[in-house]
Amino acid sequence: MSNKLLLPYNSGSLDLKNRTVMAPMTRSRATSDNIPVDLMTEYYRQRATAGLIITEGTSPSPNGLGYSNIPGIFNQKQVEGWKKITDAVHHEGGKIFVQLMHTGRIGHQLNLPEGAEVFAPSAIAAAGQMYTVKGGMQDHPEPRAFTTAEVKTTIKEFVDAARNAVEAGFDGVELHGANGYLIEQFINPKTNIRTDEYGGSIENRSRFLLEIAGQVRQAIGKDKVGVRFSPHGAFNDMPAYDEVDETYTYLAEKLNEMEILYIHVLDHSSGNNSPEITHVKGIIRSRFQNIIIFCGGFNKEKAESELDKGIADLIAFGVPFLTNPDLIERMKIGAELNQPDFGTFYTPGEKGYTDYPFLS
Ligand SMILES: Cc1cc2nc3c(=O)[nH]c(=O)nc-3n(C[C@H](O)[C@H](O)[C@H](O)COP(=O)(O)O)c2cc1C
Repeated sequence: MSNKLLLPYNSGSLDLKNRTVMAPMTRSRATSDNIPVDLMTEYYRQRATAGLIITEGTSPSPNGLGYSNIPGIFNQKQVEGWKKITDAVHHEGGKIFVQLMHTGRIGHQLNLPEGAEVFAPSAIAAAGQMYTVKGGMQDHPEPRAFTTAEVKTTIKEFVDAARNAVEAGFDGVELHGANGYLIEQFINPKTNIRTDEYGGSIENRSRFLLEIAGQVRQAIGKDKVGVRFSPHGAFNDMPAYDEVDETYTYLAEKLNEMEILYIHVLDHSSGNNSPEITHVKGIIRSRFQNIIIFCGGFNKEKAESELDKGIADLIAFGVPFLTNPDLIERMKIGAELNQPDFGTFYTPGEKGYTDYPFLS
């Protein structure tokens, strides 16, 4: 087995100190008006030995703040908060992208700021419930379907957020097209039954993402744009559909034409009731020439073996980075990893956030 994971990586457009990526993880420590706080600076600084950090899902729009205490990047105060974080990570020699996550129908009026609305491609509620600070557990609401004009406004919100990200010092943005949030709600024909140019055929359902990617690329540069997908993932009530493979073939081809920096594929098969997706990963690799990141259930050994296959270029770790600020050092010497405290994943304060121990 090779020993690539901890060696530097340089693709020409991305220069990293190793091939590990800290996966995006919502931690709900921002203020109630969605501004990053100093505690978050400390959390990301602690993990700056990752080759690349991708931040927690961060909303480009007031309408995309479906969970309480997640950060946004659509106003100046948020930009100022993020600046401290990007500075800290850069100071440690790390790189950091912000994940732009619009929650779409996975939201609740009780979590949203005044004037914001739970929007989705179509008025189809997700099954299940979500937590709200103001009212405890609540059923997912029926979202209001965007008008065509509102779709275009939302695309512009992503583009403005990407510009803000550059102003805040981020090295790039990841468009969250995974896990059943807004972009995937457009891609999936069971959550998108629109009859305008954003619904129907594969081309139309892909249009929302591809217009965002194209315009963001135009605004901040092709080497600063990545996209995350979770094909066949069932998380957040994403129904299965027939033409999944054709859809991701088309998306990978179009994103390849745009020469964006990376596609990040999350394989849910190690976790929640989703099928194995080796074949889709192969399809994406065969269509997309730039960087591929894989995520989902990796440890050092599995990561090395995956890198050996030559399909993925980088490997992202979620929970292992959450619980081990010094994951790189631990993997280097084969030390044991801290175990997760699931009860503090989304709770306020430093407990289970910045207090996971370092080796020494
Ligand atoms: C606490 C927590 C929050 C997460 N939040 C996000 C998120 O904001 N955006 C996202 O794309 N994935 C999110 N994920 C998924 C992770 O990025 C990752 O794909 C998942 O944990 C599987 O990787 P792992 O097996 O290495 O943990 C989250 C995962 C966890 C554990």
